[in-house]
Amino acid sequence: MLINTGEIPKVAVNQMNEVHDVEIDIVNKLFEKISQYDESEDSFKEIVKLFDEFLNDVINHFRFEQELMEKYNFFAYPMHRGEHDRVLYEIKSLEKVLKEKKDVKAVKDYLLYTFKPWIINHVQTMDTVTAMYLLNFI
Ligand SMILES: [Fe+2]
Ligand SMILES: [Fe+2]
Repeated sequence: MLINTGEIPKVAVNQMNEVHDVEIDIVNKLFEKISQYDESEDSFKEIVKLFDEFLNDVINHFRFEQELMEKYNFFAYPMHRGEHDRVLYEIKSLEKVLKEKKDVKAVKDYLLYTFKPWIINHVQTMDTVTAMYLLNFI
């Protein structure tokens, strides 16, 4: 398992927590498939399928928060949005590395050493502050 749900702090808006739980579940499934990778074509295809699911989920996760921030004029929206855009760009670059170079190890390393610490820190800081603000409106 890459991330235990207990490692992700809970924020004040429950729908945000639900979105995070879904993402942790998907990223754990992806990580598990990567750990079982046996260099066969079937195993690579399964990884690509889960990677696509992960990327789509990240897009929806970020969009969900951004729509709320825009709707309620969150004061630090550009900063929070900037962080989302930066990470989305990283994951889209990683998609190329996976699909064009078949570099499964690069995805594993990214998840372990970049995405995991990032998501824990991001929820603890930006998402937490955003949820506290949103709680006044929703
Ligand atoms: Fe979030
Ligand atoms: Fe966020």
